[in-house]
Amino acid sequence: MKFTILIVDDERNIRDGLAEAFGMEGYETVVASDGQEGMKILDERYIDLVITDLKMAKVSGTELLQHVKRQWQNIPVIIITAHGDISEAVQAMQFGALDFITKPLDLDHLLKLTKNALEFRELSIKNQELREEIEAQQRISSIIGKSPAMRKIFDLVRKVAPTKANVLVTGESGVGKELIADAIHNLSPRRDKPLVKVHCAALAESLLESELFGHEKGAFTGAQTKKRGRFELADSGSLFLDEIGEINQNVQIKILRVLQEKKFERVGGESTIEVDVRIIAATNKDLKQEISEGRFREDLYYRLNVVNIEVPPLRERREDIPLLATTFLQEFSQENGKEIEGFEPRARQALYAYDWPGNVRELRNCIESAIVMASGRFVAMEDLPPGPRSTQEKREIHIPAFSSLDEAEKILIAETLAITGGNKTKTAEILKIGRKTLYQKIEEYGIDVLDRQGSTKVQEPRS
Ligand SMILES: Nc1ncnc2c1ncn2[C@@H]1O[C@H](COP(=O)(O)OP(=O)(O)OP(=O)(O)O)[C@@H](O)[C@H]1O
Ligand SMILES: [Mg+2]
Repeated sequence: MKFTILIVDDERNIRDGLAEAFGMEGYETVVASDGQEGMKILDERYIDLVITDLKMAKVSGTELLQHVKRQWQNIPVIIITAHGDISEAVQAMQFGALDFITKPLDLDHLLKLTKNALEFRELSIKNQELREEIEAQQRISSIIGKSPAMRKIFDLVRKVAPTKANVLVTGESGVGKELIADAIHNLSPRRDKPLVKVHCAALAESLLESELFGHEKGAFTGAQTKKRGRFELADSGSLFLDEIGEINQNVQIKILRVLQEKKFERVGGESTIEVDVRIIAATNKDLKQEISEGRFREDLYYRLNVVNIEVPPLRERREDIPLLATTFLQEFSQENGKEIEGFEPRARQALYAYDWPGNVRELRNCIESAIVMASGRFVAMEDLPPGPRSTQEKREIHIPAFSSLDEAEKILIAETLAITGGNKTKTAEILKIGRKTLYQKIEEYGIDVLDRQGSTKVQEPRS
C-alpha cells in the first residue's frame, strides 16, 4: 500500500515537479493549486501527508495548515516558503507544521523529511492499535469491554459464576446477553458439563414443552420414539433459556415447578425425573411490565432473577466502541486474508458517534462488511455502511441574528451536546473547554442534556 501525499502550490512547475519526484519514490500524489482546492481534496480522500506553499491566492498555506490541524491532528504538514519569508514559516511551526523548507527546494532534504514523518505516523497509528489490543485483555471469556458498566458486569459474572444461583440477563438485542451466559457457565464448576440452549421464541407452544421436558413414545401424534428434553440433557450443567419473556403461562408453570422442586415428568410420561440444573435466562423484554400486564408469572420471575445482570446498550458505553471495533477488525482481516491495520481517523470518529441501535451485533456486522469493502491499509469512511457514515455529514448550528453572546453560547453548547448524543466529555473536547466549565454552563443556562432525537434524558455514568 502506498502513502498518499497532497502537494499544494500555485506554481505549476513546482507542484508537478514534486509530484513527479515523489511518484518516482513510490508515493501516490495529488496536487492542488491553492488551499481551497487542498481542503476539498482532504475532505474527499485519505491523505497521509501535506506539503504546502504558504503564499497562495484564495486560501493560504497557513489557513490550510490550521484547517488540517483542526480536523486531522495527526496528518503531518510540511511548509514550503520563499527565501526570506522565515517569520511566516516560524508562525506556521507554531500552528503545528512539522517543518519548513525554503525555496529553491532541496529535494533530497524534502524526501527525507517526508519519509521520516510517514514512518513516525505509521508507528503512532500502530501504537494506538497495540494499546487497544492490550486493553482488550480486559475481558472474560470472549466478552470485551473496558467501560465502567462492563467492568461491573465482569465483576458480577466472576462473583456469581461459581455459585448455583439462577441468573437473569437483561438488555436490548445484540448487547451480548448470550456471551454472558456462556461466560457464567464456563467460569462455573459445571464447565465440563453441558450448557444447553433453548431459544424459547423460536419454538411453537406445543413443541416448546416437549423440547424442554421431553416426551414418551406415543405421547402425541408424531412422537414415534421417546425423547429426552433439554432439562434432562442439561443435568448437572446449565440451561440457557433465551427470550424467556416469550413463553406462555402453561410452560411458565411447568418451569416454575422444576425450579422449586427440581423434578418434572416427560410429556405423556408418569415417572418423575430429578435434575440438577442451573438456569441462566435472558430477555430483552421488561419483565416487570409483563408481570403487571398479567403475561408473566411473578413467582417465576423471582426464581429466575436471583441475580440480575443488566447490560446497557452500546450507545451508553461508547468507551467500548474503539476496543470492540479494533478486535473485530483484526478478526475479520484475518478471516478475509486482508492486511488491514486500522481505521482512518474519520472512520473511527464515525464509529464512535453512531448510536448503534443493533448494539454490538450491528457493530460487528458493520466491521465485517467494511473489511470486505476496504481496499487500502486502513478502513475508510466510504467503506462503512450508511448508518455510521451518516454521523460524519457536515452539521451546522444556527444562531439567530441579534442573539446576545450568552444566548449564542447556550445554543452552541446545547446543539453540540445533541450532536454528541449527550456525551459531555466529547462536547467539552469539541468546545475546547474543561468538563467542569461545561458542567457549570449547563447548570447556569439550564440546558437539558438531550439525546440525538431530543426525546429522552441521557444518563452518564459518573466518573
Ligand atoms: N462485549 C462483547 N464483546 C465481544 N463481542 C460481543 C460483545 N457483546 C456482543 N458481542 C457479539 O455481538 C453479537 C451479539 O451478541 P449476543 O448474541 O450475545 O447478543 P444478545 O444480547 O443475546 O442479542 P439478542 O437479544 O438479539 O439475542 C455476537 O456476535 C457476540 O459475539
Ligand atoms: Mg441472544
